[in-house]
Amino acid sequence: MSAGESYDVAWNSRFGDQPPAGARLVEPLLRHRSVRHFTDRDVPPDTVEALIAAGLSASTSSNLQLWSVVSVEDRILREKVARSCADQAHVLNAPWFFAFLADHYRIRSAAKRLGYGGEGLDYVEFFTMAVVDAALAVERIACAAEMMGLGICASMFLPRNAISQFLMGLMHVSSS
Ligand SMILES: Cc1cc2nc3c(=O)[nH]c(=O)nc-3n(C[C@H](O)[C@H](O)[C@H](O)COP(=O)(O)O)c2cc1C
Repeated sequence: MSAGESYDVAWNSRFGDQPPAGARLVEPLLRHRSVRHFTDRDVPPDTVEALIAAGLSASTSSNLQLWSVVSVEDRILREKVARSCADQAHVLNAPWFFAFLADHYRIRSAAKRLGYGGEGLDYVEFFTMAVVDAALAVERIACAAEMMGLGICASMFLPRNAISQFLMGLMHVSSS
């Protein structure tokens, strides 16, 4: 995020003209930049809790919340995650790293409890819903972090590789 940028400058650098006068509240969103280098400033657990709360408050398709999040704090696991993200240094060095997972486990379990097979979950629509839910949560958390003066960068995991399978195992979520 470009902290020093005014509303006018942030708007102009993206769109090349003058911003509408009555929309200053969008300024933090316009100032977004992916951040890949970090200070050693601590991000306290209270802040992280607030960020997760922001993610949990995102819109979710059919109110199903088909996503989960894992905070990857173990160093060895973080190294493995970084490797599966093409060895990107910021994945390794960020003070916090959250893995967001498209998650059918809870709804599949609920269906099973009610005596249904959950066959519909294999349709591409349900896969898409889970990915969209996860993406909305990521973006909501990213916006919240930037509003709190933190820098963020999204990274795409290779789907279904060993590490994402392991993280899903931590959450007891199904990859299907
Ligand atoms: C789903 C997704 C995956 C991304 N993966 C990476 C990544 O692996 N490495 C990286 O450096 N940036 C990654 N980015 C950040 C984009 O490169 C960045 O958002 C884009 O270049 C626009 O720049 P900005 O965010 O500074 O406006 C990702 C962004 C998204 C939304």
